[in-house]
Amino acid sequence: PALKRLVVVSNRLPVALRKDEDGWKLKQGSGGLVTAMAPVLKNRGGMWIGWSGTSDSGAELDGLMDDFTEEAGYELCTVPLTEEDVDGYYYGFSNEIIWPLFHDLQSRCRFHPRYWRTYLDVNFKFAEVVARRSSPEDYIWIQDYHLMHQAFFLKSMGVRRNTGFFLHIPFPPPDIFMKLPWRAKLIQALTEFDLVGFQTVQDRRNFVGSLHRLMPEARVEGRGAVVTINMGNRSFRAGAFPISIDYAQFSDMAARPDVVQKAFDLKEALRHRKIILGVDRLDYTKGIPERIRSIQTLLRRYPDLKGKVNFIQIAVPSREEVDEYKELRTEIEQLVGRVNGEYSFPGWVPVHYHYRSLPHEDLVAYYAAADVGLVTPLRDGMNLVAKEYCACNNKGDGVLVLSEFAGAAAQLQKHAYLVNPYDVEGIAKALHRALYWPIEERKAHMTRLREQIRRGNIFRWVDSFLRAGIAKSLDDFPEA
Ligand code: UDP
Ligand code: G6P
Repeated sequence: PALKRLVVVSNRLPVALRKDEDGWKLKQGSGGLVTAMAPVLKNRGGMWIGWSGTSDSGAELDGLMDDFTEEAGYELCTVPLTEEDVDGYYYGFSNEIIWPLFHDLQSRCRFHPRYWRTYLDVNFKFAEVVARRSSPEDYIWIQDYHLMHQAFFLKSMGVRRNTGFFLHIPFPPPDIFMKLPWRAKLIQALTEFDLVGFQTVQDRRNFVGSLHRLMPEARVEGRGAVVTINMGNRSFRAGAFPISIDYAQFSDMAARPDVVQKAFDLKEALRHRKIILGVDRLDYTKGIPERIRSIQTLLRRYPDLKGKVNFIQIAVPSREEVDEYKELRTEIEQLVGRVNGEYSFPGWVPVHYHYRSLPHEDLVAYYAAADVGLVTPLRDGMNLVAKEYCACNNKGDGVLVLSEFAGAAAQLQKHAYLVNPYDVEGIAKALHRALYWPIEERKAHMTRLREQIRRGNIFRWVDSFLRAGIAKSLDDFPEA
């Protein structure tokens, strides 16, 4: 049948219900998945299915969600989860097993069998909602590692749908994937989707590598960005689809007079010193402690920079109930204190650290004001902050210093300054060079980066994924 509607399914919706002193509120979700998918739904319409962000429920809360639906132009559908569900499936399996393992940090994994069982139960719950709320004419697009069993359960219920899956985080090399106690079941579940998408060609290769070890019957056909994998009695596709941002939205906002003014005020408050900027969810994959140490090394090795540069780190609160994240926060705050204690003098504090999420305009103003975007994750699926920084740099004279282990490096390597995020001295050296780089060279590289990101924007990404997923013309899809 002709496909008529897009149904996106992810753990997180673009908004989450949170309670504060004044009662229940809708809070904007953070992270790359929401940034990328929200404009897609807004543009095409359809339905977004996900968890409400709380185990409480009631008519009042449903009302809040309905208000959002009315405004957004697409439907929101929430999947109710109990506290136990959230604990085993989200905090446990997703955040204590898959997240660290897939970012090559296996020593942080806690392989509790209970997590796996709850993960399966919750995936079944999600699949029931998807089955009930969708029809065979919908394209069901599952997002990220929380929901890898959706196609498997839909099929087991006898529900036939065209399904696609996109993994926003890296897929690890086979030697690491093989550590997972439930590796065979998990990879088999992924083969049940009609299309499986990854951020980079390397991620797809890693997936195929594990597949060959665990399901020797798999045969790969083709060698382009998208390949067909034959499993004997059935086949599916796998491809690399590097995700992106709504470039125009960021660039246009950075050009707005009020945002230009904000960026100017920021520069002025810092007495027009050079600004190095980091923006991340506070997460151990982001390499924030190493980054602060590199600033310390920078000031130690290049005393000429004292009083001339500021490092601003925006750390967005994330997964705050998890011990590892609490400990990381303490570690970062101690490091910031140490560097500032060592180097500040009246009128100059080298590191400005903000632990909060920012209104969109403020974030864009920070990007626009920064001379260097410092993006040094230890490992990252893509890293949208890197792209957002470039999109907002309308003056075109900024420098992107980027970790070679971010998915974005595979695309942006030619014109970003690549660094090893573990190499504190190497980052300091790169920063020093970036700060003294002649303007013509900075402009030449930034112009190319911006052009590349503008062309490969989020709408291109959707089109290429859906084209591969539907395998025919996109004309059947409504476009806003
Ligand atoms: N971001 C946010 N709130 C903020 C600051 C940033 O939601 O206060 C966004 C940022 O704009 C970016 C996303 O968080 O789109 C982070 O995405 P990225 O791919 O860099 O990393 P992730 O958080 O998904 O690991
Ligand atoms: C990354 C993941 C997303 C996740 C986001 C925020 O971007 O790929 O799936 O939503 O981090 O994390 P959280 O646990 O708060 O959803």
